[in-house]
Amino acid sequence: MQIMTDLPTRAIGKIRIRVAVDRCVGHARCAAVAPDVFVLDDEGYNRTAEKVIGAELRESALRGQRACPERIITVEDLPD
Ligand code: F3S
Repeated sequence: MQIMTDLPTRAIGKIRIRVAVDRCVGHARCAAVAPDVFVLDDEGYNRTAEKVIGAELRESALRGQRACPERIITVEDLPD
């Protein structure tokens, strides 16, 4: 049996992403760096206030969070 020691921590479980959508000004950088997590509307705004996704997308979510100049994205690990 192979032991997978190079897996990132918290690779299993769920994370919650929250976006203060009323403060989104459409920089679109979240979706540019993490299109697997962040989706914009037809006008380029992030209108997804909250969603829960698998923790395998955690690094992508954090990349999108860091990319937003408005600092309106939070990423939270959910209890197993
Ligand atoms: Fe909005 Fe920030 Fe993304 S301003 S479109 S949440 S980079």
